Amino acid sequence: MPTTDSSGAKIHYQDTGNGKDVVLLLHAFPLHSGMWSRQIAALSPKYRVIAPDYPGLGKSTPRPEPSTMEFLAEQVLEVLGNVRVDRAIVVGLSMGGYLCFELHRRRPGLFRGLALCDTRPGADSPEGAAGREAFAKNALEKGLHWVADEMTPKLLRPHPDAAAVKEVRHLIGQGTPAGVAAAQRGMARRPDSTPTLAAIACPTLVVVGAEDTLTPPPEAEKMVAGIKGARLARIDGAGHLPNLENPAEFDRVLMEFAAGLPK
Ligand code: MLT
Repeated sequence: MPTTDSSGAKIHYQDTGNGKDVVLLLHAFPLHSGMWSRQIAALSPKYRVIAPDYPGLGKSTPRPEPSTMEFLAEQVLEVLGNVRVDRAIVVGLSMGGYLCFELHRRRPGLFRGLALCDTRPGADSPEGAAGREAFAKNALEKGLHWVADEMTPKLLRPHPDAAAVKEVRHLIGQGTPAGVAAAQRGMARRPDSTPTLAAIACPTLVVVGAEDTLTPPPEAEKMVAGIKGARLARIDGAGHLPNLENPAEFDRVLMEFAAGLPK
């Protein structure tokens, strides 16, 4: 697993698979690139797959500053520069979707296609941002067990499989409290991406778990309406992480989208 330096921090990323066409996978909060294990297995016979970890989540070094979307976009572009990739199918889930909006503003030419999964373009309300600050402080004081207790039920469908619960808790446990706090503080500062939805001109797929309560299907429908030509895929039997709760359907939809993209 390669790492690279950026402003003193180590960025860990997976770079695997075969083929000239690249898929960039951007993970959700408070997980890491390991949440994509099934997609990496499905994609890698045909595609090169690049999947970074945000600071303090997975194997990337934590930093005290907020993981703003601007900072994360710079890190991702630095990784892509190092591996000489200038065009990719970009897939972002939830926080990864927030990052997609920022990446697209900075480097629209990167995008062969865009898959926005279980995400929303809007910024936080003042109450939402205050809630994230409280979460960040609690994470630093109480640790990752508390984070897993708080987040796991929100990420999965109402009656999740025990194996999914175990996997999500395990992924959360591989981060750091500092990484969780930085991500919350960075998301609290994210801009409203609604005004720039109309500038997205690449083929776009919007994916949503039918039982997602954090970014529910009506949010996805609004996003589809705001992006020219966007298509919606609803994944049954899944909450906020359809890639993990119904990977067969998620992968089918993603592979079909990728295969249909113009070169
Ligand atoms: C995520 O899954 O990345 C988070 O739920 C996003 C958020 O907290 O807004």
